[in-house]
Amino acid sequence: MFGPIGVFDSGYGGLTILRDIVRELPEYDYVYLGDNARTPYGTRSFEVVYEYTREAVARLFEMGCRLVILACNTASAKALRTIQQRDLPGWDASRRVLGVIRPSAEAVADYTRNGHVGVLATKGTVSSGSYLMEIAKIHSGKDLRVTQVACPMWVPLVENGEMDSEGAAFFVRKNVGELMEADPLIDTVVLACTHYPLLRRVIDRYVPAGVRVVQQGEIVAESLKDYLRRHPEMEGTLSKGGEVRYYTTEKEGMFDRMAAMFMQADVASRHLEIR
Ligand code: DGL
Repeated sequence: MFGPIGVFDSGYGGLTILRDIVRELPEYDYVYLGDNARTPYGTRSFEVVYEYTREAVARLFEMGCRLVILACNTASAKALRTIQQRDLPGWDASRRVLGVIRPSAEAVADYTRNGHVGVLATKGTVSSGSYLMEIAKIHSGKDLRVTQVACPMWVPLVENGEMDSEGAAFFVRKNVGELMEADPLIDTVVLACTHYPLLRRVIDRYVPAGVRVVQQGEIVAESLKDYLRRHPEMEGTLSKGGEVRYYTTEKEGMFDRMAAMFMQADVASRHLEIR
């Protein structure tokens, strides 16, 4: 049985990952699911993020997906491991769920020159310590200093389409300022929330010149390509029609307008209940 690749996020953020995945691997079919009705995840407890993510992944599997990418750092930090270890074997051990933190943590060393790395993320991702742990594990021999700052207002700004507002400028300046003050030597800033590239124009105004800003889309797309090369048993079960379908747990109208803007294509989403 063939099936599409599922791409899941709490809202619009995963579109920044989907866009690069589709550009890199256009031959496959995709199903995007945004849980816009329950966004944001970044301020919620471990248990709630796990429960919401588990429901979404189960729904994507019901829709025939063979492989699901959690295109959300918060869900990757709080739910991925439990889903992989506890839920997946009981559902269907031949399917897979992958996250975005590991490939991003791997890539960090390719960007920094002086080892001073900044991570901007949701409260949930920051408090999980996932980036600190993954970077320490993967780059154990290297002298990397990682500083994190939580940006709790950034996701609500994006979800409300306020990317170019004065409010966005205020909060981006505040959080980027906090990060650079905590470690003025930072030369690389990872946007460790998939919503944040949607604020990129404002972010670039406040990140000091010479500091590299790392988005996850291309990193995740490259990593997926590599994964499919190494796993022909999975690659062979993916349907190849070049189709992208969109689902949202909210009303379709606003989703279609936002998604069309980010994907630069017409989007006609469908409403989906995941509970
Ligand atoms: N896009 C999600 C992430 O990468 C965050 C979303 C949220 O707070 O809902 O962490």
